[in-house]
Amino acid sequence: MTKKYLIAPGPTPVPEEVLLEMAKPVMHHRNAQFSAIFAEAREGLKPVFGTKQDVLILLSSGTAAMEAALINTMSAGDRVLVINAGKFGERFTMIAKAYGLVVDELVYEWGRVARAEDVKAYLDRHPDTKAVAVQGSETSTTVYHPIRELAEVVRGYKDTILIVDGITSVGVHETRMDEWGIDILITGSQKALMLPPGLAFIALSEKAWAMTKKSNLPKFYLDLTVELKNQKQDTTAWTPGVNLIYGLKAVVKMLKEEGYDNVYKRHTVCAEATRKGLQALGMRLLAKDTPANSATGFFVPEGVNATAVEDYLREKVGVTLASGQDDIKGKAIRVSHLGYHSYFDTIIALSAIEMALKVFGCDIKLGAGVAAAEAVIAAAFPAK
Ligand SMILES: Cc1ncc(COP(=O)(O)O)c(C=O)c1O
Repeated sequence: MTKKYLIAPGPTPVPEEVLLEMAKPVMHHRNAQFSAIFAEAREGLKPVFGTKQDVLILLSSGTAAMEAALINTMSAGDRVLVINAGKFGERFTMIAKAYGLVVDELVYEWGRVARAEDVKAYLDRHPDTKAVAVQGSETSTTVYHPIRELAEVVRGYKDTILIVDGITSVGVHETRMDEWGIDILITGSQKALMLPPGLAFIALSEKAWAMTKKSNLPKFYLDLTVELKNQKQDTTAWTPGVNLIYGLKAVVKMLKEEGYDNVYKRHTVCAEATRKGLQALGMRLLAKDTPANSATGFFVPEGVNATAVEDYLREKVGVTLASGQDDIKGKAIRVSHLGYHSYFDTIIALSAIEMALKVFGCDIKLGAGVAAAEAVIAAAFPAK
């Protein structure tokens, strides 16, 4: 028997109590019993989003919520600025282009974060820009963009909204949507929310809801005004993911019980321990600027094939990490700290990595990464 460890940045492991909730019989969704569960699950998302606005639940993967953000607020020919610092930034551009929007990109080298002053300079040159779209955590490069500073800039332009793809940052980095002035915030079920893939979540500010009234891009399944009308009455426009909603209700309860600050702290400590562990092994991190606490990417030493290391770990010892994407495929590996991940999952990841690197002929000291990580974790748990 090989015990399996899923330590990739999504889908992430699902806690046993959530799995058990989801194993309950499917119920019909147009009745008071389901509505009560749905309402509780939806309410529990608000503190995670840092909003008093409605958080809408969609039966889709996260990309649909990215699409919904644009098609519900933009009109044909509108100008959009996309922060492209990795694979998911690029996706916003692809969606915007598919709908005929005028897209400009601020392109940053992989591993770098967006600079608020660049966004300000762009908006000063193009005050007709209707939206700025950015990731919270760019999962492909494992950086965290300066969302609070970007929101500070964008709120100064009365006709521009800030869309944040928080798919791997909501529930990881504290995000105060209302206070910071984020106009649209998105996340997905299979990351920090500890559920299987299948749900996406989206909240809009009043400024963004006002834009939905003028938006003329085509939409049907993802028409958020239809969803809002239904979800305000504790039901959905279309058939909801009934069992995923049972699971979501359990997840929001778990997060509240742990305490949101403790959730963020756990991610911070695991991420820091991983970074220190990898650096102690002599690995170079993908993030050149502020690293994300969702996942940590690192380059394997020259001459080693990262995909072979990752395959070895998954197939021989049962540890699933994630590969680098696009240009860094075969060169880099990403380790998750997302969701149902705690301190000893971090130790397992580092232990697996150092053993695999040794097996692949790298000159590393076994235990060095684990020791550095243990020092970080121990410091977070003083005796008194
Ligand atoms: C930052 C970010 N945005 C978007 C997505 C796409 O989400 P999905 O695969 O659920 O459509 C991902 C998935 O990993 C992501 O990490």
